[in-house]
Amino acid sequence: MPTTQRPLRRLLTPLAAVALTLPAALITASPAAASPAAASPAAAHPSVAHPPVARPAVTPSRPVTAPTAAPALAAAPAPAPLLDDGLALTPPMGFNNWNSTHCRAEFNEAMVKGIADLFVTEGLKDAGYQYVNLDDCWALPERGPDGNLVPDPVRFPNGIKAVADYVHAKGLKLGIYTSAGTKTCNRAGFPGGLDHEQQDANLFASWGVDYLKYDNCNNQGRDAIERYTTMRDALKATGRPIVYSICEWGQNKPWLWAQQVGHLWRTTGDISDNWGSLKGIIQRNLPLAQYAGPGAWNDPDMLEVGNGGMTDIEYRTHFSMWAIMAAPLLIGSDLRKATPATLEILGNREVIAVDQDRLGVQGEVIAQENGRYVVVKRLQNGDRAIALYNETDRAATISTTAAAAGLPQAPAYRVRDLWTKTTRETAGVISATVPPHGTVLVRAGTDRRWPLYPPAVELTVATEGELALVEPGTAAVLTTVGTNHGRLPAALSHVDLSEPAGWAVTATSRSSTPVLLPNRPLRTTWSVTPPADAKPGSYELTGRITYYPGQGARPSVTPAAITVVVPPPAPIGTVFLSDVPFLTASNFYGPVERDRSNGERPGGDGKPITIRGTVYAKGLGVHAPSDVEFYAGRHCSTVRAVVGVDDETNRRGSVGFEIYADGRKVAESGQLTGVSPAFPITADVNGATVVKLVVTDGGDGQNYDHADWADLIITC
Ligand code: GLA
Repeated sequence: MPTTQRPLRRLLTPLAAVALTLPAALITASPAAASPAAASPAAAHPSVAHPPVARPAVTPSRPVTAPTAAPALAAAPAPAPLLDDGLALTPPMGFNNWNSTHCRAEFNEAMVKGIADLFVTEGLKDAGYQYVNLDDCWALPERGPDGNLVPDPVRFPNGIKAVADYVHAKGLKLGIYTSAGTKTCNRAGFPGGLDHEQQDANLFASWGVDYLKYDNCNNQGRDAIERYTTMRDALKATGRPIVYSICEWGQNKPWLWAQQVGHLWRTTGDISDNWGSLKGIIQRNLPLAQYAGPGAWNDPDMLEVGNGGMTDIEYRTHFSMWAIMAAPLLIGSDLRKATPATLEILGNREVIAVDQDRLGVQGEVIAQENGRYVVVKRLQNGDRAIALYNETDRAATISTTAAAAGLPQAPAYRVRDLWTKTTRETAGVISATVPPHGTVLVRAGTDRRWPLYPPAVELTVATEGELALVEPGTAAVLTTVGTNHGRLPAALSHVDLSEPAGWAVTATSRSSTPVLLPNRPLRTTWSVTPPADAKPGSYELTGRITYYPGQGARPSVTPAAITVVVPPPAPIGTVFLSDVPFLTASNFYGPVERDRSNGERPGGDGKPITIRGTVYAKGLGVHAPSDVEFYAGRHCSTVRAVVGVDDETNRRGSVGFEIYADGRKVAESGQLTGVSPAFPITADVNGATVVKLVVTDGGDGQNYDHADWADLIITC
C-alpha cells in the first residue's frame, strides 16, 4: 500500500535542437561506413560544401499545433518529370538485398527467385511491389576477356539473364547495381562502371535489366554530375527503359541537379537498422520536399522494416514517413523469413496509396517543435495525408487542423487512421497521442457522409511530453484528458487505465460522463503505484476512452499508450557516469559507448577515448546528434567532463556539448571541431531529477561528428 501520495516527478522535454542540415557522408566517407570502402579513393574526397537548408516554420505552441494557414503547402508546384521518359512516375517499389545480406553468401539466385515468388504469393506484387534488385557483390572482381562484367558463378550459376527471365515471367522487373567509380564499394566488390558506361549499360540491357542503382565509391574524385550523366546517356542509348537510381549519398546535393539525370537520388549516407539512423535520415530528407516530383524522387535509402533492429512502432514510422515523403519503397529484409507483422507493415495498401499517389508530391513539414512533426502530403483526390510524427522518447500529443493541412472549409471532415483502420469525423482538429518514436498517419478530406462516422475522441495524458517517473512502492498522480474533436456529441464516455501486473491504479476523480461534448474535456486523476520491488525500466499503462456515437450505435474506443518509468537508484558520492545506467540514450550512429569512442555502427567497437592525443580511460563515446539521460534523484550537485571531437575523425567533424538539468540548459561548450583542444565543462545540477547530456551537430550536419564525454563525473 502506498504510504505517501505525491505528484509524478517530471522531466520537461528539453528543446532538442533538430538538425536540419544537408546530408553528408559519415566517418568513412562511403556510407557503407563499416566497410573497407573507407580505403577507397572516395574516402579521400569525402566532402563538398554543405550549406544548411532553411528550417521549416516552427509553431511555438505546445502541443504542436499547425498554423491555421498552410504556407508551406502553397509553395511551388512539384517539378515536371524532366527526364520525361514516362518512367518512375510514382516512387519505385520493390526489393533490394543489401540491407539484409550485404555481401554474404546467402545473396544468390535462390534468394532472388524466392523473393520474386513471395512478391506474387504474399500479394506484394498486387500491392505494387515490382522491382527485384541486386546490390553489390553479384559479379566477379575482374572483368572477362571481352571486358564485360562477369556474374559470380557461385551466386548466379545461370547468369543474370536467367534471373531476369524468371522475374519477368512473374510480371516483375529486375534491377542491378554498379558504381560510378573504378570499383564498387565492398572490398569483395567488382569493377565499377566509370569509363565503361556504354559497355556495361549494353550488357545490362542485353540481360533485360529494368533498373540500375549507380553508386559512388572509388570515383577518383571526378565530377559527379559528369559521371552520372555519362551513364544516363549510356542507358538511354541502349533503347531499353531503365529506371536510373543515383546513389551518391547526397554528397553533391543531387536534389539540385539530378532531376535531369536520374529518376531518384539518394539524399543521405546509408541507412542502418536502428532508431538513431532512421531519425537522422528523416531529419535530412524532410526539408527536400520541393525537389521531388513524378519521375524525380528523393531517396532516403532502402527499407529496414523486418530486419529486427527496431520495434514495430519504429518500423511503422519508417514506412509511414517513407510514404508521406514519396520515397521509393524498396524492401530490405529477407521476405523468406518475414513475420506476419513485417508483412502487415509492408503490405498496408492504404499507406502504399499515400506513397504512390499520382499527384506525386512529397509531404511537407507544416509544423515542428521539439521533435514533434506535422507533415502533410497533398493527394490527387483532394484529400491530405497527414503524419503526426514523434521522434522523441516520450509519448506526445501532436495536433493540427484540417485548415492548416490545406483542406477547404467544411462543417466536418472524415479522418481515417491508416494503421488502426478507423474512420472518424472531426470538426477540424486532427490530433493524436503518439507513442515515442511513433507516427500516426491519417488520410483526411471533406466528405458529405461525415455524420455517419463516430466523432474523433482522443485520450491524452496531462503530463504528456514529460518523463513520468514513478518510484517503487510510492503512489504518483497521473491525469488523463478525454476530448471530443468531433462535430457531434459522444454519449456515455468512460475512461479506464489498465496496469502492469502488481501495480495499483485507481481513479481518484470522475472517469465517466453521460455526454462528452466537443471542447468540454473529461479530466480524470489517477493514483499509480508500482510494486515495492519494481525493477527500473519503462512500463506501459494502457488508457482507453470508450464512447457511443449515437443511440443504439456500437461503442467506439480510442486507446492511448502511457509510458511511466521506474528509475534506477540515483548515484551516491562521486562516480563516473559511464558506470551508471542510462534512463534513455539516443545516438546517431551505432550505440552510445561506455569508456570507448563511438567507433562505427556495432556496439563495443570504439577505441580508447582520445582527444588531441590524450587518452582517457573513462567516459562516453557518442555520435551527434546524441542525448543521454541519467536519474539524479534530486541529490546531486555537479557534472564535470572534458569534452571534444575524438581523434578517430582525423581532425574532422564539429559538435556542441550541452548539459541539461530537468530540461534547463546549465552548461554548453559552444562549437568544437576536430582541431579544438579538449574543453573542460562543468554544470550545476543541484536538485535536478534528471540530467541530460546532449551533443549537437555543431550546426553543420553530422559528418564525422564522433564526440567524447571524457572523464565524465557526477557528484551526488
Ligand atoms: C554503398 C551504398 C549502399 C550499398 C553498398 C554496397 O554503401 O550506399 O546502398 O549499395 O554501397 O557496397
